[in-house]
Amino acid sequence: MKNNWKAMKIKNKVLIFCCLVSSFPVMAQAIQVKETLLENRTNPTGIDVLHPQFTWILEASNRNVTQSAYQIQVSENKANFDKNLLWDSKKIKSSQSVRVLYEGPDLASAKKYYWRVKVWNQDNKDSKYSDVGMWQMGLLKPADWKAKWIEAEYVEDSVHRASPMFRNDFKIDKKIESATAIITSHGLYQAFLNGKKIGDAYLTPGWTSYNKRLQYQMYDVTKLLQQGENAVGALLGSGWYRGPLAWGDNLNIYGKNLALLMQIEVQYTDGTSAIFGTDENWKSTSSDILSSQIYNGEVIDSRKEKEGWKRPNYSTENWSSVNVKDFDNSNLVATYNEPIRKHETFKPLNVITTPEGDKVIDFGQNLVGFVMVTATGKAGDSITLDHAEVLDKAGNFYTDNLRAARQENTYILSGKGEEIFEPNFTWQGFRFVRVKGIKGEINPDDFTAVALYSDMQQTGTFTTSNKLLNQLQHNIQWGQRGNFLDVPTDCPQRDERLGWTGDAQVFSKTAAYNMHVDNFFTKWMKDVSADQFDNGSIPHVIPNVLGNAGGSAGWGDVSTIIPWNMYLLYGNTDILKNQYQSMKGWVDYMNGASVNNLWNTGSHFGDWLFYAPEDDNDGRAAITDKYLIAQCFFAHSTQLLINTAQVLDKQEDVEKYSALLEKIKKAFLNEYTTPNGRLVSGSQTAYVLALNFDMLPENLREQAAKRLAENIQSYNYHLTTGFLGTPYLGQVLTRFGYHDLAYTLLMQKTYPSWLYPVTAGATTIWERWDGRKPDGTFETPTMNSFNHYAYGAIGDWMYSELAGINSSEKEGEVGYKNIIIKPHLKNNFVSDEVRKQNNDDALTEVEGSLITYYGTVKSHWKVEGKQTFIDIQIPVNTTATVYLPESDKSKIQESNKELSSHKEINIADQDENNTVLSLGSGDYHFVIN
Ligand code: BGC
Repeated sequence: MKNNWKAMKIKNKVLIFCCLVSSFPVMAQAIQVKETLLENRTNPTGIDVLHPQFTWILEASNRNVTQSAYQIQVSENKANFDKNLLWDSKKIKSSQSVRVLYEGPDLASAKKYYWRVKVWNQDNKDSKYSDVGMWQMGLLKPADWKAKWIEAEYVEDSVHRASPMFRNDFKIDKKIESATAIITSHGLYQAFLNGKKIGDAYLTPGWTSYNKRLQYQMYDVTKLLQQGENAVGALLGSGWYRGPLAWGDNLNIYGKNLALLMQIEVQYTDGTSAIFGTDENWKSTSSDILSSQIYNGEVIDSRKEKEGWKRPNYSTENWSSVNVKDFDNSNLVATYNEPIRKHETFKPLNVITTPEGDKVIDFGQNLVGFVMVTATGKAGDSITLDHAEVLDKAGNFYTDNLRAARQENTYILSGKGEEIFEPNFTWQGFRFVRVKGIKGEINPDDFTAVALYSDMQQTGTFTTSNKLLNQLQHNIQWGQRGNFLDVPTDCPQRDERLGWTGDAQVFSKTAAYNMHVDNFFTKWMKDVSADQFDNGSIPHVIPNVLGNAGGSAGWGDVSTIIPWNMYLLYGNTDILKNQYQSMKGWVDYMNGASVNNLWNTGSHFGDWLFYAPEDDNDGRAAITDKYLIAQCFFAHSTQLLINTAQVLDKQEDVEKYSALLEKIKKAFLNEYTTPNGRLVSGSQTAYVLALNFDMLPENLREQAAKRLAENIQSYNYHLTTGFLGTPYLGQVLTRFGYHDLAYTLLMQKTYPSWLYPVTAGATTIWERWDGRKPDGTFETPTMNSFNHYAYGAIGDWMYSELAGINSSEKEGEVGYKNIIIKPHLKNNFVSDEVRKQNNDDALTEVEGSLITYYGTVKSHWKVEGKQTFIDIQIPVNTTATVYLPESDKSKIQESNKELSSHKEINIADQDENNTVLSLGSGDYHFVIN
C-alpha cells in the first residue's frame, strides 16, 4: 500500500513535469512526421506504379506550422538503411507533403523498398526522420510470372459446380529471409500454406473487367513457411467470373472454367532465391463446397472434407491431375485498392418465432457479410440459413424483394464434434436470418454476423444534438459499408449487386467524407475506361455485364464526376490524367448524339425513383423531362472536362469545349425555358439541376430558386426528387439563400423525406423513399432494396453545410490544402409542422471531423443560451478560411482572449453576417457572446 502510494507520487511528479515541458514551446519538437503513406496506403505490397508517390502527415504542438522543405530517402534494406541507400531526394524546398513523386533509379519487380522522410518547418527547424515505411513492388512484366495457370483435370458436375481445390508440396532446406506469395485466379480464391489461410482478404482477386484487367494480390508469407516439407493449396469459387450474374441464367460471363495462378518467391539468407509456382505437378479434386454462387449462397458438406489436405504429408492418391493453360498474362495488374476484410461482428439481438412458425434471428443491423455458425450434431444433419432484410407487417420473414436471389447457406455436419461454418465465396445482405435444421431452442451464442467490406479507413464522423439525424448518418455509413465491396454496388442482396454507374457518382462525394475512397474509386474508374464503348458511351454497370446497355444521362457522367470529385477531395491529379480520354470520349459521345447541341435522343433512366403517388389524381408526380435532365448533365460533364483540361494545361481543349458549353446552354434555354425562366418541367429536380449546373443566366437564377422554394412549399415542405436531383437539393437551396428550407427538408419526418425511413426503424438507406409504407406494407418487390446508398447523398450537405467542412476548389488548394470552414449554426424551421414534429427544437450542436492527407480537420459548434462555442482543428501544413457567424468581432473570443490579441489570427473579411478569419494550423476555441 505504502509503496503504491510512493509510486503514484512519482508518477504525478513525472506528469507535472511533462505538462510543464509540453507547454514550453522551446522544448517541444517543432514539427514531426506522424504517419507515412505510399500510393495512399500504409506499407502496401504489390505496387505496379513505376514512380510511386509519397505522402506524410505532420504534427506540431504550436499553431501556424507549415512545411518549408523535405528530404526523402529510399533504401533497399531496413536494418542497414544508410548503407543501402537507393535514392536521396536531398533537401527540397517545397511545402508539398502529399503525392510527392519517387524520382530515383528504376524499381525492380517484387522487391521491397524502405523509405523515410524528414521535414523543415517555416523557421527552417527540422524534424526527426519518420519511422521507416515499406512497400513492395508488384510483378512489372508478364515474364516475371514463372508459375503456370492450372485448371482442374477431372470432369466437373456442370449443374452444381462444386468448388475445385488444388494442392502441392515443396521442400525448403535453407534459412528463409523472406517469402512472398503472388496469387490470382479465374473465379474467387482462398489459398493456404501449411494449414493456414494466406492473408485475411475475402473475395479475392476482387472484381474488375477481368478480360482486360485481372488483379493479383501479394502477401508476405515468411511466417507461414517452414523448414522441410511445405504444403500449398487453394480453393476456388465461381464468384463473378462464371456464376450467375444479373438476370436470367446469365452464366459464364468471363469464362467456363475456374483457374489458379500462384507463385511463392522465397529469398534465402545466403542470398539465393527460389520460386514455387502452380504447374503440372499440382493435383486437383472437388471440395466440400458443393455449390457456391454470389446470389444464391453456398452448400458445404463437411462429410466431404479431405482431412489434412492443407498440410504436408497428405496423400493425393485419389486426386486428379491439372491442366496447364497458356493464358496470356498481359491483363494482370496489381491491386490498387484496399482488400475486402471482415469488420464489425454482431450477436443476435433477438430470437423470434414468427407467426408462420419460422425461427428467426434479428441481428439489429442491416449488414452485408455472412453469419458464422457453431454446431454439433450427427453426420448428415444440416443447418440452413436464409437471409432477409426485413420482416413483413405481420412479422413474418420477407424475401420477395430479393427477387431471384436465394441468399441461402446450407451446412451439412460431419458429426465429428463442434464445427464452425462460414461461407467462402458469397455474401448476403440481411438483418434477419431464418434458421432451419436446429432441433429445439436456438442458442444465440452459436451465431455471429460478420460485416464484410473493402478495408478503407473511416475518415469522417458526424454527430449532432439530434438523435434521428445521428441515426441517418449511421444509416448512410452502413449503406456505404454494405455496398463498397471492391466495386460500388447498387445493392448487396437481390439478384443485382452490380456497379451501377449512376448510383456511384451520386454518392461519391458523401462517400469521400465517410471513408478513404481515393484508391477504391481510382481502381474502379480504370474499369470504367476499360469497359467504355468504342463510341465513347458508358455502360450502365461497371464491370460491364449487361452487354450493350449504356449511355444514360446521369449514369454515363460517372466518367467525369468521380474523377473530378477525387481531384477536389484528395488532390488526385493523376486520376484526371488517367481518365482524361474517357471523360472526353463521353462528352464527345453526347455531342455526337445531339442535334443542334441538343441531346434529345437515346433512352435514359431520368430522375430515377422520384416521388410519384399511386393515386395521382391531381398530377403530383414529380416527373422531370428526361431530355431536360440529359441536357443538364451534358453541360455539367462538359464543364468538368473544361476544368480538367485547365488543370492539365490543355488550352486547346479548354477553348474547344468552352465554345461547346456555351452552345449547350443556349440550346437548353431555347428548348426548356420560357423567357421568364420557367422550366418546362416544374419539378424540384428540374430547378435543382438547372441551378446547380448554372444552366440559367445570372438574371434568371434568383427567380428559379424562388420557384424551387415554392414548389417545396406546395408539397407541404417535402422533397420529391429522385436519384439525380437529390444529391444537389440541399446544396442549391443553401447556395441561393434558402438554407432554412434545406434544413426543414432534412428534419421532415413524413414521407417523402430522409427521416421518414429513420422513424420507420431503418438501419441503412432505402432504395425508395417509402420502401416500407406508413401502413407497414411494402413497395413493389420488383424494386425495393433496403440497402441502396443513393439517397444517402445528403451526407455531403450535412458535412459541408451543417458542420461546414469543405476544401477550397482553387488549383493548388484542393484536397484540403486550403480548408473552408463555414458551418450554418442558425437552422430554423420554415414549416410549423416540421417545427412541431421536432418539438420546437432546432439543432444546438454539430460536430464533424475528417481525416485528410494532411491530418484531421474538425468543426464542432454548440449553442448554449446566449453563447456559441466553436472548436476548430486545422492540420499542419494547411491553411483555413473560417466563417464565424458574427459580424461584430468584439463579441468573439478565442481561448478566452479577444481576437485582436492573437497575432496568428488574421481577420480576412467581415460581412453583415460573418467575421472571416484566415488561420494556420492548430486547435482553436472560439466563443461568441
Ligand atoms: C438499380 C439502380 C440503378 C437502376 C438504373 C436498378 O435496378 O438497382 O440503383 O441505378 O437500376 O435505373
